[in-house]
Order: sequence, then structure tokens, then C-alpha cells
Amino acid sequence: MKGIILAGGAGTRLSPLTKVTSKQLLPIYNKPMIYYPLETLMRGGITEILIITAPDRAGDFLRLLGSGRELGAKFTYEIQDKPEGIAQAFIIGENFVGDDSVALILGDNIFEDDFSQAIKGFKTGGHVFAKKVPDPERFGVVKFSSGGIAEQIVEKPKEHVSDYAVTGLYLYDNRVVAIAKNLKPSVRGELEITDVNNVYLQAGELAVSTVSGAWLDAGTFDSLLEANLLIAKREGSAVL
Ligand code: G1P
Repeated sequence: MKGIILAGGAGTRLSPLTKVTSKQLLPIYNKPMIYYPLETLMRGGITEILIITAPDRAGDFLRLLGSGRELGAKFTYEIQDKPEGIAQAFIIGENFVGDDSVALILGDNIFEDDFSQAIKGFKTGGHVFAKKVPDPERFGVVKFSSGGIAEQIVEKPKEHVSDYAVTGLYLYDNRVVAIAKNLKPSVRGELEITDVNNVYLQAGELAVSTVSGAWLDAGTFDSLLEANLLIAKREGSAVL
């Protein structure tokens, strides 16, 4: 299985922190943010990793991460010209993915859980990871049938659907590239990962697991602070 870290976007919600650097390079206690999703993939045994960045920031990522050889990995870099959606990563990464299955992780998602079993045991279809959150309207949300079976993923629902947000780690078989190529942009002008998930779900081929440990999408000032506190505590900071 190959890995993609999507670290594009302008990070406008974190301006002025993101005026001269990428959101995914901001510090989370003692490391740049992107180290955490990178560790999540590498812990699962994934060593061939494509890093997708915004056009004006690629050099910063390259300086930080280089070839990956020091870490026992091989990094490839691609540019996402405009923030046109998470699912665009599979179109940008088509050649990189080749005939393999792929794990996509968002460059601002920090997980406590170890996903190595799910990654190493992955065979076919799609596999997403949901987490109960207090603010589901910010995310893709899992709608359950009365029997408790996942029946639809709804992107940023206006009305309450459930408290289970789909987190930013996605495992797919090779069909994901063709599925992404068939998507139409949503009203916000993006190729939505939620639409990819619904294709697998409707085919009865989407596994939905729950995340037990902490999960943070460090895209706002508060979640960035929370992520810093979580890691500082874990690392035994003397301040906390
Ligand atoms: C994106 C996805 C959403 C998912 C979230 C996880 O949201 O669209 O489905 O739950 O990432 O971090 P966005 O970052 O576009 O707001």
C-alpha cells in the first residue's frame, strides 16, 4: 500500500500564522505538524509516500523532509495548484499510485491511535475511521440506519445527522483513482472525499471503524492549541 499526505491549501483560517509558511509546517510542540500524519502512515509500514503541497510552499516541505532516506522512506512530491478538494489527490497522484492500494491522510490530522492493523490487513474496498465529536457540522458525518449500519456520509450537514465525524485517514483499493476522475465538483468547487466514500458505501464496500484515541484536525486556532497541549502532555512537558 502506498501513502499520500495531502498538505495543500492556503490555511486561510490560521492567517497570519500561515502568511509565510504552510499550516502543515506549523509547530505542534516539538515537531512540525506534518510529522504526525507521516508517523501514522509509517507506523503502518507504508514507506512510499507522496506529499502534495501548495505551489508556493513545495520548497519548504522538500527542505524539511528531503528524500525520506534518513527515515527509511521514499518521498515523492507533487503540487496541488488550487485547493480543489481532497479527492483531487488521487488524480494528482495517479502515476504514483500505479496499480497499488493507497492510504490518504490529511497533513493537519493528528491521531493517537495506531492504525497498523487496518493498514496491514487492508484488502479491498474502502476503510474510513469515524470519531464522536462535539461539532460534527465541521466534518463529513456518518448517517446510521435504525439498525446502526452506516448508510450515507454527509458533508458538513446543516441539520444533525449523527455525532460521528469521518476523520482524515482513508484507505482505498486501486479503484479510487477512477472514482475520483468521475467526480463532479461540489457547490464549494471541490472534489469531495465524501463523494468517494459514498460510492464505496453504496456498493457495500466501505468499512467504517471508530477511532478510540484522540483525533485532532488542527485547522483552527483552538484545535491547533489543543493539539499542542495534547502532544506537550504526552511528551512530558514541564509546563503542564
Ligand atoms: C475535510 C473533509 C471532511 C472530513 C475532514 C476531516 O474537511 O471534507 O469530510 O471530515 O476533512 O478533517 P475540510 O478540511 O475540507 O473542512
